[in-house]
Amino acid sequence: LRVAVLASGRGSNLAALIAARLQVDFVLVGSDKAKAGALALAAAAGIPTLHLNPRDYADRASFDRALFGRVAEAQPDLLVLAGYMRIIDGTVIAPWEGRAINIHPSLLPKYRGLHTHRQCLAAGDAEHGASVHFVTAELDGGPVVAQARIPVGADDTEETLAARLLTREHALLPAVVRAIASGRLAWQGGPVFDGTPLT
Ligand code: GRF
Repeated sequence: LRVAVLASGRGSNLAALIAARLQVDFVLVGSDKAKAGALALAAAAGIPTLHLNPRDYADRASFDRALFGRVAEAQPDLLVLAGYMRIIDGTVIAPWEGRAINIHPSLLPKYRGLHTHRQCLAAGDAEHGASVHFVTAELDGGPVVAQARIPVGADDTEETLAARLLTREHALLPAVVRAIASGRLAWQGGPVFDGTPLT
């Protein structure tokens, strides 16, 4: 399986994917941030990297066309959004339906978008979590294929929740990619599982 990854930040989920020794080829790691830790990690791992600066483009759609054009040139079978923090133009992402997954730090459909830990605490939830879902044009809205859950304690803050959840993300995302690589999880107009647990 040829895998491309987009990431905007430190890249700990990318690091987890690399460390998992999956039977996949990482063909590209791309970012909208020149200083993304993910780019440095990828370079150190010998994975081709790409940075495009949104400010060099007239609008969102032209940036997304350029970025996803470059991603397409790498011919990935699967695109993983691992902390990619930009909303993607719907027309640009549409052709990737069924071939792109995203990890989001909430128990979707709760708390799409930003500040999920804060939203979870404000709601007084007893439980928080992370979701991996197939990407559709709707932000954080595609079908969920796997979740990790953690209890929320009385002393939890955004920071403690984020840190505890992150370690679970690092198991969850590689598990989903492994399932796709082995054919246990596929897309046929929607996610299709073979019934074996993903995580
Ligand atoms: C993760 O919490 C991910 O779920 C969210 O952004 C964070 C990325 O962390 N969308 P990292 O860059 O993988 O360390």
